[in-house]
Amino acid sequence: MSDKTITFTIDEVEVKARPGQTIMEAADEAAIYIPRLCSLKGLSPFGACRVCTVLVNGRPQSSCTQPAAPGIVVENASERLHDIRQDIVEMLFVEGNHFCMFCEKSGNCELQAMGYRLGMMEPKYPRLWPRRELDASHPDIFIDRDRCILCARCIRASREQDGKHILGFLGRGPHKRVTPDSSDGLVQTDAAVADAAVAACPVGSLMRKRVGFGIPIGQRKYDHRPIGSDIESGAEVPDERK
Ligand code: SF4
Ligand code: FES
Repeated sequence: MSDKTITFTIDEVEVKARPGQTIMEAADEAAIYIPRLCSLKGLSPFGACRVCTVLVNGRPQSSCTQPAAPGIVVENASERLHDIRQDIVEMLFVEGNHFCMFCEKSGNCELQAMGYRLGMMEPKYPRLWPRRELDASHPDIFIDRDRCILCARCIRASREQDGKHILGFLGRGPHKRVTPDSSDGLVQTDAAVADAAVAACPVGSLMRKRVGFGIPIGQRKYDHRPIGSDIESGAEVPDERK
């Protein structure tokens, strides 16, 4: 670190950051895990899910977008923030249609893993059971909007890593949905199965076809270790796609 190094604290632990780093990036390098869903290493920050909310000098901020600053006091691992994050994750579950036992992403799903990590049981909010359209028009991939959490990881990965524009958002509020850049469906875009956009989906929404149970239940990413444990062990900040 240089003389421009920023020093601040997270839960009373001193953390160093380089100028321009977000609170989350600095926390990752210090082996402190801040829960997140819409943030993914290598993509621009988006600030959609708010699961990464921390208190900065007592005020809520999304740590994936908030730059680190000298002397700030960040609260991350408190009971209050745990409860806020659990509420957000419960809301994500009830506003979609998530049937983990039938989903190919089960065990590799970041939403499911976050629910486990936060100790979520049955959500306290009423389920909305929305009716959402499936796009299975493409020969190799599909969008199951029932499981979409509107994180925009696919949209950002398509633009920033694949150099394409295959997806975007349409509509507002409860009608907002991820949609292909063609009114004729995913098949009329240049989406390909190897796109970073497909790998970027944290849930079972944008998925490859014909891969059912390629990895048996019990041998999947989060079957044996909680989400965030790579960061807490001090390993290199993980790319959740791997
Ligand atoms: S399809 Fe997946 S990656 Fe895209 S917005 Fe929905 S949940 Fe996020
Ligand atoms: S991870 Fe920061 S808002 Fe989603």
